[in-house]
Amino acid sequence: MCGIVAAMAKREVADILLEGLRRLEYRGYDSAGIAMIDHDGGLQLHKYSGKVAILEQALALEPMQGGIGIAHTRWATHGQPNALNAHPHVAGNRLALVHNGIIENHQALRQQLEADDTAFLSETDTEVIVHLLAKAVNGGATLLAAVQQVIPQLNGAYALAVIDTENPEQVVVARQGSPLVLGVGIGETFAGSDTLALRSVTDTFVYLEEGDVAVLEVAGYQLFAANGEPVERPKTRLEAEHESQVLGDYDHYMLKEIHEQPARLADTLALDPLDCTVFGPRAAAIFGQVSAVQILACGTSYHAGLVARHWIEQYVGIPCQVEVASEYRYRQSVTLPGTLIVTISQSGETADTLAALKIADNDHIVGRLAICNVDHSAIVRASDLVFLTRAGAEIGVASTKAFTTQLVALQLLAANLGRNGALSTLNNERFCATLRGMPDAVAQVLALEPTIKAMAAHFTLKHHALFLGRGIYHPIAMEGALKLKEISYIHAEAYPAGELKHGPLALVDDDMPVVAVAPNDELLEKLRSNLEEVRARGGELFVFADEAAGFTAGEGVHVLPMPHCSDMAGPVIYTVALQLLSYYVALAKGTDVDKPRNLAKSVTVE
Ligand code: AGP
Repeated sequence: MCGIVAAMAKREVADILLEGLRRLEYRGYDSAGIAMIDHDGGLQLHKYSGKVAILEQALALEPMQGGIGIAHTRWATHGQPNALNAHPHVAGNRLALVHNGIIENHQALRQQLEADDTAFLSETDTEVIVHLLAKAVNGGATLLAAVQQVIPQLNGAYALAVIDTENPEQVVVARQGSPLVLGVGIGETFAGSDTLALRSVTDTFVYLEEGDVAVLEVAGYQLFAANGEPVERPKTRLEAEHESQVLGDYDHYMLKEIHEQPARLADTLALDPLDCTVFGPRAAAIFGQVSAVQILACGTSYHAGLVARHWIEQYVGIPCQVEVASEYRYRQSVTLPGTLIVTISQSGETADTLAALKIADNDHIVGRLAICNVDHSAIVRASDLVFLTRAGAEIGVASTKAFTTQLVALQLLAANLGRNGALSTLNNERFCATLRGMPDAVAQVLALEPTIKAMAAHFTLKHHALFLGRGIYHPIAMEGALKLKEISYIHAEAYPAGELKHGPLALVDDDMPVVAVAPNDELLEKLRSNLEEVRARGGELFVFADEAAGFTAGEGVHVLPMPHCSDMAGPVIYTVALQLLSYYVALAKGTDVDKPRNLAKSVTVE
């Protein structure tokens, strides 16, 4: 999703802006641009469709100079991903603006501006903002006053940064609904969509609150709350940059992140699993009142929630609902008394999850828990309790280590929710031993990589695939299908295997690979019968099967023998194997594994 970088410094900032954009590439984008004010006070602008590397090449031929600038990676929402629609957007030779978010009333604003003879250069919703600001500054307002006058006219979400050639000492930024953080240096101040963008220039950050407006200056910054009053926000100093952003010997971040899982799971498991303060100081008080759980999340994080429902209902014995946040937020739902709202989000900025969290606000809720990989993110800040997964920054758009660490977090949640009695079936010793063994079990699956790679070769010419699982492994099949479609662009659907004969069996023929998740559990024989139905219709089976499940490879049947594991470890173990399958299919197809088309890492708009 769109990324913003802004800089105000005594030194040259073009390279800082470019580096910030490179660091934001993981979010997903389709065009990039930079605007700066040069040492003579002139506005310079470069923007192109395509990768940041194209912008970089243009700057090598025609360098930009100056100590003030804004930069942007755009993920198209309104208008095609071409150079005209790329940000920054300008008003004459005076103002340049970058924006992340969606201005919902842009059409009405555009009509008003066009009636006043404003000429638009792009199809974007964003361009209305720069023209509204131009009207205000041309009427005599300072840049800060102009921003404060214009933002109440905007409906929707925005993080924005604007520069004015008549005021080359200040960058003004604002946020409402989209993320923005200030980076504080010595003799320089920055802003970015996330801290990663600015880690090469500072370790000190100020997280802006909803409605905040900030003025970046060389000597520091001024900050104003939504009511226009000056306000102070805490400064946060982050530890040294994590190795997560270094690709090392791997060809792709996704593969690196798959391989990091034993270590990242071990980091997450270094916490005492039965110490509920890992969820925050108020956890014991809140967990003691919980008699139902409502999980809200999107995409892969939603799948983690579906897995957790099994653990919570089976081991804690309380009802657990799971819903995609984009549906929940617009639905009249009924909240059970004593409900703990649990949001799951890798980024902590997903607009739908954040909105669902905010509307889930009624007398029946006893608390809000965020399971998140990014500290200080919007979802974390809007929650009463927080469990921070220790996945490290995840750069590949396809979520891997974030998902498996979410699963571990949810196991800890089940264990801690059940401590006040209902958890008698979840033997603590067995539970702790399973958790401790998880990194090794994942390492065993990683050792199967060559076999999985060979299996992947069968998928490269296919257009469709079915994923089957039962019970707690149905959401794992869903996650496997999502991974495959995200990065290989093969249409993949997941079904609970028992549903096959109620419709999808009609799709099965010798051109439809069917992937089955087959642990040695109480549903194994049921699953085996479902797979016979597939074979009888010529479907080619790829069975990820417990080594003791008794599956043998043969014509049309490929078997990956998986280590034996319990229903606590199994969802993690089988997921890792499915991640590798998707990776190698995508690799063979030659797609952009880390930045699949049309997708964004941090989905900050609806
Ligand atoms: C995962 O592979 C996807 N890229 C996507 O489904 C993602 O999980 C979803 O957008 C939710 O993101 P979040 O975890 O950051 O909230």
